[in-house]
Amino acid sequence: MGKIIGVLTAMSVEYKQIASILTDARKEKYGPHEFLVGKLAGNTIVLLQSGIGKVNAATGVTNLIVNFKPDSVISTGVAGGIDVCLKIMDVVVSTQACYHDVLCGDDVDPGQIQGLPRIFCCDKGMVEVAKSLQTDVRIVPGLICTGDQFITNREQLNVIKATYPEGLAVDMESTAIAQVCYLFDIPFVSFRIISDTPGAEEHFEEYLNFWQTMADKSFSVTRLFLNNL
Ligand code: ADE
Repeated sequence: MGKIIGVLTAMSVEYKQIASILTDARKEKYGPHEFLVGKLAGNTIVLLQSGIGKVNAATGVTNLIVNFKPDSVISTGVAGGIDVCLKIMDVVVSTQACYHDVLCGDDVDPGQIQGLPRIFCCDKGMVEVAKSLQTDVRIVPGLICTGDQFITNREQLNVIKATYPEGLAVDMESTAIAQVCYLFDIPFVSFRIISDTPGAEEHFEEYLNFWQTMADKSFSVTRLFLNNL
């Protein structure tokens, strides 16, 4: 029996890359969200373009979970590399996810919300699948830091690294989805291609260049990952 896998993207380019490989695809709309339900490698994929940011991601994954009861959830798309070991087109697969923009007062650590873990653990099985993919792309497991900010410069990066020295990448959705999956007890992983490296000179040009010249090619590794689940 195949699994039901929820897949969330923030942006349309990422969505289209995955939509194009689903078979028997049909659309289902619940509230504000139009889901694409299709088959891939014996599993049912429920694909949603949630939009950018934590609230879009959290409402999208909640609606997906309530209506489709997935066995697992994946956040995919791009992220900014915040560690010297990363270059553009590498992939970060989340072993853990945290918030870099949460401050809830003195009785909890920076990044933590009362009653929740400071760092959310991701699904070990899906991390192993990502690590074992037969590809030339470098796949680096580690911590993804999420916030409602597009990180551009070294000052922002240094603040994040001061709290999370082990942080590998920044994005705007992964931990919001991890939190909802934690609450519903659903295995989660984030699989993110590095599109830019905050702190680099000409950072925004780097990001635009990724979308203009590299994005299409880079998403083949995302498709490979989904094919192997
Ligand atoms: N997603 C891709 N690049 C990012 C960045 N620099 N900051 C936040 N989210 C991102």
